[in-house]
Amino acid sequence: MIAMTTTSEGAPRKFQYDDAKVADVKLPNPLKGVSDTADWPQRRAEIFAMLEDQMFGKAPTFDKASIKVTREVADKSMLDGAAILSQPILQIAGCKVQLMIVRPANISGAVPAFLGYNFRGNHTVHEDPAIALTQGWVPRTKNNTATQEQRGLSAKRWAINEITKRGYALVTVYCGDIDPDFHDKFKNGVHAAYGVPAPNQWGTIAAWAWGLSRILDYLVNEPAIDAKKVIVMGHSRLGKTSLWAGASDPRFAAVISNNSGCGGAALSKRRFGETVHRINSSFPHWFCDNFKNYNNREDKLPFDQHMLLALVAPRPLYVASAEKDLWADPHGEFLAAKGADPVYRFLGTDGLPTEDMPAIDEPVHGRIGYHIRSGKHDVTLYDWKQYLAFADKHIKKASN
Ligand code: GCU
Repeated sequence: MIAMTTTSEGAPRKFQYDDAKVADVKLPNPLKGVSDTADWPQRRAEIFAMLEDQMFGKAPTFDKASIKVTREVADKSMLDGAAILSQPILQIAGCKVQLMIVRPANISGAVPAFLGYNFRGNHTVHEDPAIALTQGWVPRTKNNTATQEQRGLSAKRWAINEITKRGYALVTVYCGDIDPDFHDKFKNGVHAAYGVPAPNQWGTIAAWAWGLSRILDYLVNEPAIDAKKVIVMGHSRLGKTSLWAGASDPRFAAVISNNSGCGGAALSKRRFGETVHRINSSFPHWFCDNFKNYNNREDKLPFDQHMLLALVAPRPLYVASAEKDLWADPHGEFLAAKGADPVYRFLGTDGLPTEDMPAIDEPVHGRIGYHIRSGKHDVTLYDWKQYLAFADKHIKKASN
Protein backbone atom coordinates (compact mmCIF):
# COMPACT_ATOMS: atom_id res chain seq x y z
CA MET A 1 0.00 0.00 0.00
CA ILE A 2 1.23 3.48 -0.79
CA ALA A 3 -0.53 6.15 1.26
CA MET A 4 -0.95 9.74 0.16
CA THR A 5 -0.57 12.54 2.63
CA THR A 6 0.70 16.09 2.60
CA THR A 7 3.71 17.73 4.18
CA SER A 8 3.47 20.89 6.26
CA GLU A 9 4.63 22.69 3.10
CA GLY A 10 1.46 21.39 1.47
CA ALA A 11 3.25 19.23 -1.10
CA PRO A 12 1.55 15.86 -1.58
CA ARG A 13 3.92 12.96 -1.07
CA LYS A 14 3.75 9.23 -1.25
CA PHE A 15 4.89 7.12 1.63
CA GLN A 16 5.80 3.48 1.38
CA TYR A 17 4.07 1.13 3.81
CA ASP A 18 4.68 -2.15 2.01
CA ASP A 19 7.76 -3.96 3.22
CA ALA A 20 7.72 -6.24 0.18
CA LYS A 21 8.35 -3.18 -2.01
CA VAL A 22 11.34 -1.96 -0.03
CA ALA A 23 14.61 -2.83 -1.74
CA ASP A 24 17.26 -4.53 0.37
CA VAL A 25 19.49 -1.70 1.40
CA LYS A 26 23.23 -1.99 1.61
CA LEU A 27 24.33 -0.64 4.97
CA PRO A 28 27.75 0.94 5.54
CA ASN A 29 29.91 -1.32 7.71
CA PRO A 30 30.25 0.13 11.23
CA LEU A 31 33.36 -2.01 11.76
CA LYS A 32 35.11 -0.82 8.58
CA GLY A 33 38.89 -0.87 9.12
CA VAL A 34 38.54 -2.40 12.56
CA SER A 35 40.39 -5.64 13.23
CA ASP A 36 41.20 -5.29 16.89
CA THR A 37 39.17 -3.84 19.78
CA ALA A 38 41.92 -1.24 20.14
CA ASP A 39 40.85 0.10 16.70
CA TRP A 40 37.26 0.71 17.78
CA PRO A 41 37.68 4.07 19.58
CA GLN A 42 39.03 5.66 16.39
CA ARG A 43 36.29 4.18 14.19
CA ARG A 44 33.72 5.21 16.78
CA ALA A 45 35.04 8.77 16.69
CA GLU A 46 34.78 8.76 12.86
CA ILE A 47 31.15 7.58 12.99
CA PHE A 48 30.30 10.10 15.68
CA ALA A 49 31.87 12.93 13.65
CA MET A 50 29.82 11.96 10.56
CA LEU A 51 26.54 11.91 12.47
CA GLU A 52 27.40 15.11 14.26
CA ASP A 53 28.45 16.98 11.13
CA GLN A 54 25.80 15.68 8.72
CA MET A 55 22.75 15.05 10.87
CA PHE A 56 22.38 16.30 14.45
CA GLY A 57 24.86 19.21 14.47
CA LYS A 58 27.62 20.03 16.89
CA ALA A 59 26.65 21.28 20.33
CA PRO A 60 28.76 23.82 22.21
CA THR A 61 31.08 22.89 25.03
CA PHE A 62 29.78 23.82 28.43
CA ASP A 63 31.25 24.70 31.79
CA LYS A 64 29.19 22.72 34.28
CA ALA A 65 30.31 25.02 37.09
CA SER A 66 28.01 27.64 35.52
CA ILE A 67 24.82 25.68 36.38
CA LYS A 68 22.97 27.44 39.19
CA VAL A 69 20.60 25.36 41.31
CA THR A 70 17.64 26.79 43.22
CA ARG A 71 14.67 25.23 44.97
CA GLU A 72 11.35 27.03 45.24
CA VAL A 73 9.64 24.23 47.16
CA ALA A 74 10.78 21.68 49.73
CA ASP A 75 10.82 17.95 48.97
CA LYS A 76 7.41 16.39 49.48
CA SER A 77 5.92 12.98 49.98
CA MET A 78 4.13 11.54 46.94
CA LEU A 79 2.27 8.37 45.88
CA ASP A 80 0.65 7.99 49.35
CA GLY A 81 3.99 8.09 51.08
CA ALA A 82 5.71 5.57 48.77
CA ALA A 83 7.82 8.20 47.01
CA ILE A 84 9.49 11.56 47.49
CA LEU A 85 9.12 14.39 44.99
CA SER A 86 11.86 16.97 44.63
CA GLN A 87 11.88 19.80 42.11
CA PRO A 88 15.22 21.57 41.82
CA ILE A 89 15.48 24.29 39.19
CA LEU A 90 18.63 24.53 37.08
CA GLN A 91 19.69 27.72 35.32
CA ILE A 92 21.38 26.53 32.13
CA ALA A 93 22.54 28.95 29.42
CA GLY A 94 19.86 31.46 30.36
CA CYS A 95 17.06 28.87 30.56
CA LYS A 96 15.13 27.85 33.65
CA VAL A 97 14.99 24.06 33.67
CA GLN A 98 12.55 22.59 36.18
CA LEU A 99 13.36 19.02 37.23
CA MET A 100 10.83 16.56 38.61
CA ILE A 101 12.56 13.82 40.58
CA VAL A 102 10.42 11.05 42.05
CA ARG A 103 12.33 8.54 44.13
CA PRO A 104 11.35 5.60 46.35
CA ALA A 105 10.73 6.71 49.97
CA ASN A 106 11.95 3.45 51.46
CA ILE A 107 15.51 3.66 50.13
CA SER A 108 17.87 6.08 51.85
CA GLY A 109 20.91 5.66 49.57
CA ALA A 110 21.42 6.66 45.95
CA VAL A 111 19.20 4.82 43.46
CA PRO A 112 19.52 4.17 39.71
CA ALA A 113 17.30 6.42 37.62
CA PHE A 114 15.44 6.75 34.36
CA LEU A 115 15.97 10.19 32.86
CA GLY A 116 13.64 11.34 30.09
CA TYR A 117 11.95 14.41 28.75
CA ASN A 118 8.21 14.86 28.67
CA PHE A 119 6.38 16.58 25.77
CA ARG A 120 4.07 19.04 27.53
CA GLY A 121 5.26 19.81 31.05
CA ASN A 122 6.07 17.99 34.29
CA HIS A 123 2.52 18.62 35.53
CA THR A 124 1.21 16.34 32.74
CA VAL A 125 3.25 13.37 34.04
CA HIS A 126 1.20 12.90 37.24
CA GLU A 127 -1.88 14.61 38.67
CA ASP A 128 -0.24 15.50 42.03
CA PRO A 129 -0.99 19.25 42.52
CA ALA A 130 2.45 19.78 44.10
CA ILE A 131 4.11 19.37 40.69
CA ALA A 132 5.05 22.79 39.33
CA LEU A 133 3.02 23.97 36.37
CA THR A 134 5.26 24.50 33.36
CA GLN A 135 5.78 28.20 32.74
CA GLY A 136 7.06 28.38 29.16
CA TRP A 137 5.52 27.83 25.73
CA VAL A 138 3.58 24.54 25.54
CA PRO A 139 2.30 22.91 22.33
CA ARG A 140 -1.36 22.03 21.71
CA THR A 141 -2.80 24.25 24.44
CA LYS A 142 -4.80 27.49 24.42
CA ASN A 143 -2.37 30.40 24.05
CA ASN A 144 0.44 27.84 24.36
CA THR A 145 0.13 28.11 28.14
CA ALA A 146 -0.01 25.29 30.69
CA THR A 147 -3.21 25.00 32.74
CA GLN A 148 -4.38 23.11 35.83
CA GLU A 149 -6.70 20.98 33.66
CA GLN A 150 -3.67 19.37 32.01
CA ARG A 151 -2.44 17.81 35.24
CA GLY A 152 -1.84 14.11 34.72
CA LEU A 153 -2.74 14.26 31.03
CA SER A 154 0.21 12.03 30.06
CA ALA A 155 0.24 9.98 33.27
CA LYS A 156 -0.44 6.76 31.34
CA ARG A 157 2.94 7.15 29.66
CA TRP A 158 4.86 7.25 32.94
CA ALA A 159 4.75 4.12 35.10
CA ILE A 160 5.80 6.05 38.21
CA ASN A 161 4.41 3.49 40.67
CA GLU A 162 6.19 0.58 39.02
CA ILE A 163 9.43 2.53 38.57
CA THR A 164 9.68 3.60 42.21
CA LYS A 165 8.44 0.25 43.58
CA ARG A 166 11.29 -1.45 41.71
CA GLY A 167 13.83 0.84 43.39
CA TYR A 168 14.43 3.37 40.60
CA ALA A 169 13.94 7.10 40.49
CA LEU A 170 12.27 8.90 37.62
CA VAL A 171 13.83 12.19 36.58
CA THR A 172 11.77 14.05 34.02
CA VAL A 173 11.93 17.51 32.52
CA TYR A 174 9.79 19.36 29.98
CA CYS A 175 11.80 19.41 26.72
CA GLY A 176 10.59 22.96 26.02
CA ASP A 177 12.53 24.19 29.05
CA ILE A 178 15.66 23.53 26.97
CA ASP A 179 14.23 24.40 23.56
CA PRO A 180 10.55 24.97 22.68
CA ASP A 181 9.55 22.63 19.86
CA PHE A 182 8.80 25.05 17.03
CA HIS A 183 10.95 26.65 14.39
CA ASP A 184 11.73 30.23 15.37
CA LYS A 185 15.07 30.28 13.56
CA PHE A 186 16.82 29.43 16.83
CA LYS A 187 15.99 32.57 18.76
CA ASN A 188 14.59 30.89 21.87
CA GLY A 189 15.68 28.13 24.26
CA VAL A 190 19.36 27.43 24.78
CA HIS A 191 20.11 28.42 21.16
CA ALA A 192 19.50 32.05 22.16
CA ALA A 193 22.69 32.07 24.22
CA TYR A 194 24.83 30.80 21.34
CA GLY A 195 23.46 32.49 18.20
CA VAL A 196 22.06 31.05 14.96
CA PRO A 197 23.75 27.70 14.29
CA ALA A 198 25.97 27.11 11.24
CA PRO A 199 24.87 24.26 8.88
CA ASN A 200 26.85 21.72 10.94
CA GLN A 201 25.75 23.03 14.32
CA TRP A 202 23.04 21.86 16.68
CA GLY A 203 19.38 21.67 15.81
CA THR A 204 16.73 21.18 18.45
CA ILE A 205 17.30 17.43 18.92
CA ALA A 206 21.00 18.02 19.59
CA ALA A 207 20.04 20.85 21.95
CA TRP A 208 17.68 18.54 23.83
CA ALA A 209 20.39 15.84 24.00
CA TRP A 210 22.88 18.44 25.25
CA GLY A 211 20.30 19.45 27.86
CA LEU A 212 20.15 15.84 29.11
CA SER A 213 23.92 15.94 29.60
CA ARG A 214 23.57 19.19 31.55
CA ILE A 215 20.93 17.53 33.76
CA LEU A 216 23.36 14.64 34.28
CA ASP A 217 26.03 17.22 35.24
CA TYR A 218 23.64 18.18 38.03
CA LEU A 219 22.64 14.61 38.98
CA VAL A 220 26.28 13.74 39.66
CA ASN A 221 25.93 16.00 42.72
CA GLU A 222 22.46 14.81 43.72
CA PRO A 223 22.87 12.38 46.66
CA ALA A 224 19.56 10.59 45.99
CA ILE A 225 20.65 9.49 42.51
CA ASP A 226 23.34 6.99 41.51
CA ALA A 227 24.67 9.02 38.56
CA LYS A 228 26.63 6.01 37.27
CA LYS A 229 23.32 4.26 36.71
CA VAL A 230 21.28 6.78 34.79
CA ILE A 231 19.28 5.28 31.92
CA VAL A 232 18.31 7.84 29.32
CA MET A 233 14.88 7.15 27.86
CA GLY A 234 12.64 8.88 25.34
CA HIS A 235 9.61 8.40 23.14
CA SER A 236 9.36 9.36 19.47
CA ARG A 237 11.16 12.71 18.83
CA LEU A 238 12.41 12.39 22.39
CA GLY A 239 13.59 8.84 21.58
CA LYS A 240 15.68 10.27 18.74
CA THR A 241 16.97 12.59 21.46
CA SER A 242 17.78 9.84 23.97
CA LEU A 243 19.78 8.00 21.28
CA TRP A 244 21.83 11.06 20.41
CA ALA A 245 22.31 11.83 24.12
CA GLY A 246 23.58 8.28 24.69
CA ALA A 247 25.86 8.53 21.65
CA SER A 248 27.24 11.92 22.69
CA ASP A 249 27.70 11.29 26.38
CA PRO A 250 29.29 8.01 27.56
CA ARG A 251 28.23 8.76 31.13
CA PHE A 252 24.72 7.51 30.34
CA ALA A 253 24.71 3.92 31.58
CA ALA A 254 22.04 2.70 29.16
CA VAL A 255 19.80 4.06 26.42
CA ILE A 256 16.15 3.41 25.59
CA SER A 257 14.50 4.40 22.32
CA ASN A 258 10.72 4.07 22.36
CA ASN A 259 9.14 4.27 18.88
CA SER A 260 11.81 6.76 17.76
CA GLY A 261 11.40 6.11 14.03
CA CYS A 262 12.95 8.28 11.32
CA GLY A 263 16.05 10.09 12.57
CA GLY A 264 16.06 7.74 15.56
CA ALA A 265 16.35 3.95 15.41
CA ALA A 266 14.76 3.42 11.96
CA LEU A 267 17.02 2.99 8.94
CA SER A 268 16.71 6.01 6.63
CA LYS A 269 17.82 4.21 3.47
CA ARG A 270 14.72 1.98 3.49
CA ARG A 271 12.49 5.04 2.91
CA PHE A 272 9.63 3.22 4.64
CA GLY A 273 7.05 5.46 6.37
CA GLU A 274 8.55 8.85 7.26
CA THR A 275 11.42 9.92 5.00
CA VAL A 276 14.36 12.28 5.43
CA HIS A 277 12.73 14.87 3.16
CA ARG A 278 9.48 14.70 5.04
CA ILE A 279 11.03 15.03 8.50
CA ASN A 280 13.24 17.92 7.38
CA SER A 281 10.23 19.70 5.86
CA SER A 282 7.83 19.20 8.75
CA PHE A 283 10.43 19.82 11.45
CA PRO A 284 13.16 21.99 9.87
CA HIS A 285 14.60 22.80 13.29
CA TRP A 286 15.23 19.25 14.53
CA PHE A 287 18.43 18.40 12.63
CA CYS A 288 21.27 20.55 11.38
CA ASP A 289 20.99 22.14 7.94
CA ASN A 290 23.51 19.70 6.44
CA PHE A 291 20.99 16.89 6.91
CA LYS A 292 18.73 18.56 4.31
CA ASN A 293 21.35 17.64 1.67
CA TYR A 294 19.98 14.09 1.96
CA ASN A 295 16.36 14.98 1.21
CA ASN A 296 15.29 12.30 -1.33
CA ARG A 297 18.95 11.24 -1.44
CA GLU A 298 19.11 8.72 1.38
CA ASP A 299 21.31 6.53 -0.81
CA LYS A 300 24.02 9.19 -0.50
CA LEU A 301 24.11 9.05 3.31
CA PRO A 302 27.58 7.84 4.41
CA PHE A 303 25.93 6.24 7.46
CA ASP A 304 22.60 4.87 8.57
CA GLN A 305 20.90 4.66 11.92
CA HIS A 306 22.47 1.30 12.89
CA MET A 307 25.65 3.35 13.27
CA LEU A 308 23.93 5.72 15.67
CA LEU A 309 22.92 2.66 17.73
CA ALA A 310 26.45 1.27 17.52
CA LEU A 311 27.75 4.43 19.20
CA VAL A 312 26.02 3.27 22.38
CA ALA A 313 28.00 -0.02 22.41
CA PRO A 314 28.87 -1.81 24.60
CA ARG A 315 26.39 -0.13 26.96
CA PRO A 316 22.91 -1.65 27.22
CA LEU A 317 20.59 -0.38 24.48
CA TYR A 318 16.85 -0.99 24.11
CA VAL A 319 14.94 -0.36 20.89
CA ALA A 320 11.16 -0.65 21.07
CA SER A 321 8.66 -0.56 18.22
CA ALA A 322 4.88 -0.76 18.02
CA GLU A 323 2.96 -2.90 15.55
CA LYS A 324 0.70 -0.16 14.24
CA ASP A 325 3.39 2.53 14.26
CA LEU A 326 4.21 2.11 10.58
CA TRP A 327 5.22 5.76 10.24
CA ALA A 328 8.22 4.88 12.46
CA ASP A 329 9.07 1.73 10.43
CA PRO A 330 9.19 -1.03 13.09
CA HIS A 331 11.04 -3.40 10.76
CA GLY A 332 13.61 -0.70 9.99
CA GLU A 333 14.08 -0.15 13.74
CA PHE A 334 14.71 -3.87 14.21
CA LEU A 335 17.12 -3.98 11.26
CA ALA A 336 19.09 -1.06 12.72
CA ALA A 337 19.40 -2.91 16.04
CA LYS A 338 20.55 -5.94 14.06
CA GLY A 339 23.00 -3.74 12.16
CA ALA A 340 24.51 -2.57 15.47
CA ASP A 341 24.78 -6.15 16.75
CA PRO A 342 28.18 -6.92 15.13
CA VAL A 343 29.72 -4.01 17.05
CA TYR A 344 28.23 -5.25 20.34
CA ARG A 345 29.54 -8.76 19.67
CA PHE A 346 32.92 -7.45 18.58
CA LEU A 347 33.14 -5.67 21.92
CA GLY A 348 32.42 -8.92 23.75
CA THR A 349 28.71 -8.77 24.57
CA ASP A 350 25.82 -10.97 23.43
CA GLY A 351 24.39 -8.11 21.35
CA LEU A 352 20.92 -8.71 19.96
CA PRO A 353 20.13 -12.35 20.67
CA THR A 354 17.97 -13.01 17.62
CA GLU A 355 18.51 -13.22 13.87
CA ASP A 356 14.88 -12.66 12.97
CA MET A 357 12.45 -10.01 14.02
CA PRO A 358 10.68 -11.25 17.17
CA ALA A 359 6.93 -11.84 17.08
CA ILE A 360 4.57 -9.22 18.52
CA ASP A 361 4.91 -8.93 22.32
CA GLU A 362 7.87 -11.32 22.50
CA PRO A 363 10.75 -9.22 23.81
CA VAL A 364 14.43 -10.15 23.70
CA HIS A 365 16.73 -8.78 26.38
CA GLY A 366 20.35 -9.22 25.34
CA ARG A 367 22.80 -6.36 25.73
CA ILE A 368 20.61 -5.00 22.95
CA GLY A 369 16.95 -5.33 23.88
CA TYR A 370 14.15 -5.21 21.35
CA HIS A 371 10.41 -5.65 21.27
CA ILE A 372 7.54 -4.90 19.00
CA ARG A 373 4.44 -4.32 21.08
CA SER A 374 0.89 -4.69 19.85
CA GLY A 375 -0.88 -1.37 19.45
CA LYS A 376 -0.04 2.11 18.31
CA HIS A 377 2.63 4.80 18.64
CA ASP A 378 2.74 5.37 22.41
CA VAL A 379 4.54 4.49 25.65
CA THR A 380 2.58 1.96 27.65
CA LEU A 381 2.87 0.00 30.88
CA TYR A 382 3.91 -2.97 28.76
CA ASP A 383 6.87 -0.96 27.44
CA TRP A 384 7.88 0.12 30.95
CA LYS A 385 7.68 -3.47 32.25
CA GLN A 386 10.22 -4.45 29.60
CA TYR A 387 12.48 -1.49 30.43
CA LEU A 388 12.38 -2.35 34.13
CA ALA A 389 13.22 -6.02 33.52
CA PHE A 390 16.01 -4.93 31.15
CA ALA A 391 17.34 -2.38 33.66
CA ASP A 392 17.23 -4.94 36.50
CA LYS A 393 19.27 -7.33 34.37
CA HIS A 394 21.82 -4.94 32.92
CA ILE A 395 22.04 -1.94 35.25
CA LYS A 396 20.79 -2.56 38.76
CA LYS A 397 22.59 -5.84 39.23
CA ALA A 398 25.79 -4.65 37.53
CA SER A 399 28.57 -3.51 39.82
CA ASN A 400 29.86 0.06 39.40
C1 GCU B 1 5.84 13.12 14.07
C2 GCU B 1 7.18 12.98 13.39
C3 GCU B 1 7.99 11.83 13.98
C4 GCU B 1 8.06 11.96 15.48
C5 GCU B 1 6.68 12.11 16.05
C6 GCU B 1 6.65 12.39 17.56
O1 GCU B 1 5.03 12.03 13.75
O2 GCU B 1 6.95 12.82 12.00
O3 GCU B 1 9.29 11.81 13.43
O4 GCU B 1 8.74 10.86 16.04
O5 GCU B 1 6.02 13.20 15.45
O6 GCU B 1 7.61 12.86 18.12
O7 GCU B 1 5.60 12.16 18.15
